[in-house]
Amino acid sequence: MSFEFSQLGTRLGTGSGIEELMDDLGHALASGGPDIRMLGGGQPARIPEMNSVWRRRLEELLEEPAGLDRALTSYDAPRGNPRFLEAIAKLFKDSFGWNIGPENVAITSGGQTAFFFLFNLLAGEMPDGRRKKILLPLVPEYIGYANQSASTELFRAFPPVITETGPHEFKYGVDFEKLEVADDVGAICVSRPTNPTGNVLTDAEVAHLSDLAKAHNIPLILDNAYGAPFPGIIFTEAKPFWDEHVVLTYSLSKIGLPATRTGIVIGPPQIIRALGSMSAIVGLANPNIGQQIVLPLVESGEILRLSKEVVRPFYEEKSRLAVAAAHEIFGEDFPWRVHRSEGALFLWLWFPGLPISSKELYERLKQRGVLVIPGHYFFFGHDDPNWRHQHECLRISFAMDEPIVRDGLRVIAEEVRACWE
Ligand SMILES: Cc1ncc(COP(=O)(O)O)c(C=O)c1O
Repeated sequence: MSFEFSQLGTRLGTGSGIEELMDDLGHALASGGPDIRMLGGGQPARIPEMNSVWRRRLEELLEEPAGLDRALTSYDAPRGNPRFLEAIAKLFKDSFGWNIGPENVAITSGGQTAFFFLFNLLAGEMPDGRRKKILLPLVPEYIGYANQSASTELFRAFPPVITETGPHEFKYGVDFEKLEVADDVGAICVSRPTNPTGNVLTDAEVAHLSDLAKAHNIPLILDNAYGAPFPGIIFTEAKPFWDEHVVLTYSLSKIGLPATRTGIVIGPPQIIRALGSMSAIVGLANPNIGQQIVLPLVESGEILRLSKEVVRPFYEEKSRLAVAAAHEIFGEDFPWRVHRSEGALFLWLWFPGLPISSKELYERLKQRGVLVIPGHYFFFGHDDPNWRHQHECLRISFAMDEPIVRDGLRVIAEEVRACWE
């Protein structure tokens, strides 16, 4: 028997490129045994010092009057636990001097859900019949945005300018000469640091995007899944940015609590109220265990110290080792570049002129037990089949142990070299 699905059901419920890929990675991992080198996922590392903080907090919650009860046995208000909203607003106000209060903060069930709500709130079919888009000022951009539309195709993306920044190193930038904010754009969105590239938009780029958004009376959404002040996986001196038309998203995932599904949105009260309403309809309330675990760390500011002294140095060292390994292993044998690693958990490798597509390279690597993500998935919203660059890149995670990353790079080098022979 087969049932008929709605438009929305068909969009969300009948599979997507990324679902196929994640399934593929999951199966390879399940059946591939201990020799699999998993450089494909977005799983954060298990940092022993952070894990002991989580354990300590769980013990404290058992002891705190109403601690565990509050975390497990009550529904929160749809917008989040009021004390947690207050604590987040105060942390940002004290740290950066921003004029925000709890009315500027909403919790969602992970950052991913925040994006589903934000994109479909601000773009898609409007009440007067117009169709609005989310503008991605540069691709490659986070694959998790790609299939989030509840109605029509949501994204319009622009290719970046590519600057050579060192031997075998490059950096993407927003191509402001080509970037156009047309009347049908409902919001501008960018991840900073960017998944998949580790790019961090410069302060000047963010200010420019903010000016453009303000001039068009639309929000600028800055995705801080890896950003400052927490988890703070950012290796450059980029300033957190806020204005009254800016929406900032944060998450507890990359600091080490992905399974608590805690997304935090800071934004204009009108948008924040809408997120609360959407949470109520879609899920009644959000998980509150994550909020309860980190509440005292937010109230005391300890979350900032942990981000700065534990999480950031951990990943910065991993990034340094992975880049050094790429130089050592790839050498001068074939054309390759790596995006300057300015944050997040990934190296973005570019093989200019690669004789096969990154998809084919992914398949060959998978045959050899090395799992990566082929780059073309990250170039959505921009339709140019002749732009070869989008088929010449791979994303690898460096969150795994160093020998796994090195071994993965060695196999990548062998496969790429073989393409050129
Ligand atoms: C750039 C970016 N934004 C948002 C998310 C969503 O994360 P979560 O739903 O775990 O908060 C991720 C997860 O990998 C990400 O990489």
